[in-house]
Amino acid sequence: MSRNPLRDARDRRLPRVPDPCALVVFGVTGDLARKKLIPAVYDLGNRGLLPPGFVLLGFARRDWGDGDFEAVAREAAEKGARTEFRQDVWQRIADSIKFLPGSFDDDAAFDKLAQTLRDLEASHGIAGNAAFYLSVPPAMFPVVLEQMKRTGMADNDASGGWRRVVVEKPFGHDLESARELNALVDEVFTPADVFRIDHYLGKETVQNLMALRFANALFEPLWNSHQIDSVQITMAEDVGIGSRAGFYDSAGAARDVLQNHLLQLLALTAMEEPVSFDAESIRTEKLKALRSIVLPKDLGSYAVRGQYEQGWLAGARVPGYLEEKDVPAGSTTETYAAVRLDLDNRRWAGVPFYLRTGKRLPRRVTEIAVVFKRPPHLPFSATDTEELGANQLVVRVQPDEGITLRFGSKVPGSSMEVRDVSMDFLYGEAFTESSPEAYERLLLDVLLGDKTLFPDHEEVELSWKVIDPLEEFWTGTTPARYRAGEWGPRAADEMLARDGRQWRRP
Ligand code: BG6
Repeated sequence: MSRNPLRDARDRRLPRVPDPCALVVFGVTGDLARKKLIPAVYDLGNRGLLPPGFVLLGFARRDWGDGDFEAVAREAAEKGARTEFRQDVWQRIADSIKFLPGSFDDDAAFDKLAQTLRDLEASHGIAGNAAFYLSVPPAMFPVVLEQMKRTGMADNDASGGWRRVVVEKPFGHDLESARELNALVDEVFTPADVFRIDHYLGKETVQNLMALRFANALFEPLWNSHQIDSVQITMAEDVGIGSRAGFYDSAGAARDVLQNHLLQLLALTAMEEPVSFDAESIRTEKLKALRSIVLPKDLGSYAVRGQYEQGWLAGARVPGYLEEKDVPAGSTTETYAAVRLDLDNRRWAGVPFYLRTGKRLPRRVTEIAVVFKRPPHLPFSATDTEELGANQLVVRVQPDEGITLRFGSKVPGSSMEVRDVSMDFLYGEAFTESSPEAYERLLLDVLLGDKTLFPDHEEVELSWKVIDPLEEFWTGTTPARYRAGEWGPRAADEMLARDGRQWRRP
């Protein structure tokens, strides 16, 4: 049979619609479900990507009926969806919404859930297909998994349907607990059916890192220690911890963001070219990158943690971390973390990767800045190059998604003065296509069974191997203070100054 490569390529671009299925969300009254998951379900529906017979089943500890849940879900979709809210689209989703009240240790509630799923197979033709989303505090993961095991809810049934589980980050709180959790998840589900979420991988700009590096001839020859001086990966937020003290105080910035989002960004920036873009090939290269990470011997000089004090942001006075609702008195949890990491391989030998993240910093920005080496010789006078910095390629993950190239240019006039200028690519200007929100993309992948954008258990464990020594080093210490609205504690600036460098001001 002759094949038509052009048609094949076009077919691959057509969005696929998942099999009829149920999406069960545990903890559906929580922040994540309201702000991200339900709007994502609506957007999928609006784009025609939900299968006929789709059922959204919420489970949480509330005395609600289907109608109450529908009203809350509708409000969440109206507020949070990327696409326009349309009553007809919502009505189709609303018709298949169900709510089951119960706490996670309530056997009867889980028995009822298992029975409801069996009933739905007949009434909605979902043929045993179900995805379970654990949108619950990490401490509850084992409890919910045990319940699924007890009720046999996770077993692929005789109808041959699929059962998948989605586990939110952080996956464990250290290497040991991550291994235990992995073992438990693997007892209940087959490994291929476990989807660990790191929503950064669902972001368009993060996926574009691979396009930038591997679809172009321009950058790859520069992407190594001969040309690159250092890499800075920043995830800054202006918000505080909001109403999440319960979770946040037991995690801190390193477990909340460094262990997952920032190390994933590092892996995608540093990895070798995968042989193809399937899940397995990308995983292979990311694992090699993560395995080559080495922590500095001198953690005292190259790892910094901080906690925000009250200060000013956008013209308003904001409270310090210790004044936030439900934060225990005298908490030493960090809201800022910065570390230098090195990669022990030929491509990156001698190139430090500086990672930082923090809450209540001056603005929300996530970026990867690749800083190039200075020219070996500058045939200009020192005064003419006073305003010339190092060349930089900055991948702006968010906001203002795009890429900036910083390089020197002659200042118009009679002298040979050279100053830094920027060349910008902005998604919003270059493309008319709109990008799905990260959770929409990832939810669709779960329903389709595509694991390309989900870290596997080895990636998670390797990441804890980086974080555990840091946490151990910080145990019993007090984080340095920084004022809300400042770029973190002074120690973080000193850390780079020690290496003769400075943080970019994004
Ligand atoms: C989450 C963290 O994973 O990412 C939060 O738990 C953080 O603390 C959030 O606020 C930031 O996500 P985004 O997509 O807004 O950068």
